[in-house]
Amino acid sequence: MIIQCDKCKSRYNLDVSGISKAVFKVRCAQCNHGFEVRKKLEPDAELFRRENAGAAALHQVIAISNQKGGVAKTSTCLNLGMSLAQLGKKVLLVDFDVQANLTTSLGFSSNSTSFYDILQSGADNPSPHVLATRYPNLSILPANSRMALLTKHYMYRPNFEFLLRDRLQWVIERYDFILLDTPPALGFCTLNALMAANRVLIPTPCEYLSMHGIHKIEDIIKVVQKKTGREIDYRILISMHDPRSTASKVIFRKIRDMFGDKVLNTVIELDEKMRESQIVNLPVLQYDANCPAAREFMQLAREVCSLPPTMPC
Ligand SMILES: Nc1ncnc2c1ncn2[C@@H]1O[C@H](COP(=O)(O)OP(=O)(O)O)[C@@H](O)[C@H]1O
Ligand SMILES: [Mg+2]
Repeated sequence: MIIQCDKCKSRYNLDVSGISKAVFKVRCAQCNHGFEVRKKLEPDAELFRRENAGAAALHQVIAISNQKGGVAKTSTCLNLGMSLAQLGKKVLLVDFDVQANLTTSLGFSSNSTSFYDILQSGADNPSPHVLATRYPNLSILPANSRMALLTKHYMYRPNFEFLLRDRLQWVIERYDFILLDTPPALGFCTLNALMAANRVLIPTPCEYLSMHGIHKIEDIIKVVQKKTGREIDYRILISMHDPRSTASKVIFRKIRDMFGDKVLNTVIELDEKMRESQIVNLPVLQYDANCPAAREFMQLAREVCSLPPTMPC
């Protein structure tokens, strides 16, 4: 396995066959800097690229992120997850937002064990806290209000941004997709989610300020790419689109012109059934499988499955 010192950038070919731990410490022979190495579950990047050329990626971790609130991040996480599960994919949803909307929208208590509680207990493996939902193939790692303490207790620790990534390594092989719902701000949760993800989905309504939001996320992704030395694919999902609104249509065209093939072909239009389904805590597919939004989310799931493979993180 190729490892790189995060201080002097010296690279080593390390034999990890006798190491059982997922995360272990090494010391750089050049600069004597100690750093953590996470054992890769996949072959190294080049080999992965060659072996997976043209094939669907395994174990995709997708962060659903936008620094604006109310842009359909949680709705996308829930309904894309549900649609992927209906296509027979094994899906884990991670509620990484203190508001716990994803948790409650699946009918769980907003006081279930969260990522914060897992860290506090000192456990590495999150699987005992993963809850099976009432829908086949769909599980969730819930959130609760104690997630607000993550920043206070963990944000200033070394390598805090890898806490989620390292814990997901324990469960990643069990799922085809892990979807991360993030809060509308750049902080502990969003940084951890971006570090853990190999793809970012940016739900964006066609509003004037949305384009700035996309640029902001692009900038953050670039920083994460630089820090981790790996490519993170990102895609823009037009959400809550109102085709009858002229302003919406103009901004839609602008987003497409500006971001080209980064914009997914599937568009999620405004659909009152989305709000209704939320009131009764159901994914829209369960609420009304034939409504436009339900069909669009199924189409989105198929498009996500057909995207080119991403690098393992
Ligand atoms: N396609 C849609 N049509 C109509 N309402 C929607 C649609 N998508 C999401 N919503 C509604 O918009 C609101 C914000 O969505 P939410 O997913 O909570 O956003 P975020 O997680 O980005 O804050 C919710 O009330 C949700 O029901
Ligand atoms: Mg949300």
